[in-house]
Amino acid sequence: MQQRIFNFSPGPAILPEPVLEQAREDLWSIDDSGIGILEQSHRGATFERVIEEAEKDCQKLAGISDDYAVLFLQGGASTQFYMLPANFLPSDGTADYLVTGSWSKKAVKEAEYYGGVHVACTSKDANFSYIPAESETRYSEAPAYVHFTSNNTIFGTEFRTEPTPPGLRVTPGSPATPPATSSRGPSKWSATASSTPAPRRTSGPLGSRW
Ligand SMILES: Cc1ncc(COP(=O)(O)O)c(C=O)c1O
Repeated sequence: MQQRIFNFSPGPAILPEPVLEQAREDLWSIDDSGIGILEQSHRGATFERVIEEAEKDCQKLAGISDDYAVLFLQGGASTQFYMLPANFLPSDGTADYLVTGSWSKKAVKEAEYYGGVHVACTSKDANFSYIPAESETRYSEAPAYVHFTSNNTIFGTEFRTEPTPPGLRVTPGSPATPPATSSRGPSKWSATASSTPAPRRTSGPLGSRW
C-alpha cells in the first residue's frame, strides 16, 4: 500500500513520517553498517549509542534529572502494577492508592500481594465519574508511597493537578504524564519515586491525546 491514512484513535495513533522513514532505514541498515538495529549486538557500540541517545532524549522531553534512570521495560503499564509494589512496598508496609477507575483498581489488586494497601480516596460511589477533592483524601500515617492514575483513560477523568500528600513520595500510575495533553512527566520529579509513561501514547504518536 502506497498511501498512508489518518488515524485519530485515542490509543496508538499515527507517527510523523520522518520518524517512520528513519525507523525503516535503521531496520535495514543502521550507521551504514550493512545490518539493521535488530541485528546489532546488544553490547555493541551502535546499540549503546542508540540506547544512550534514547535515554537522554526521554530525560530532555520529560524534564527528568540525572537522579533518575529511564528504563525501557517490557510488559506494558500493567506489569508496573506489580513491579512498583515489588520494588517499593515492604511486606510490613502500607502504600496509599487513590482509586479513581479501572487502572487504579487493578494496581491495588497487585499491590495487595506484596504489602498493605490503604485506599486514600475513591470515586467508586459515582462509577468513577469524578476525581475526589484533595480535602477528602485521607492518607495513612507513613505510606511507602502514594499511587495515582493521572489519566483515567477508561472513565475519562484526569487529575488536573498532582496530589500533594505532605512529605511523601508520589508514584503516578500509568501512563502518568500530567497534564494529559502534554508530553512531559510529573511536574515534581523530586517527589516522585517512579512514573510509568506509555511512550507510544503519552509522549509519542501525533494525534494521540494520552
Ligand atoms: C491509564 C492506563 N493505565 C494502564 C494501562 C495498561 O497499559 P498496558 O496495556 O500497556 O498494560 C492503560 C492502557 O490502556 C491505561 O490507559
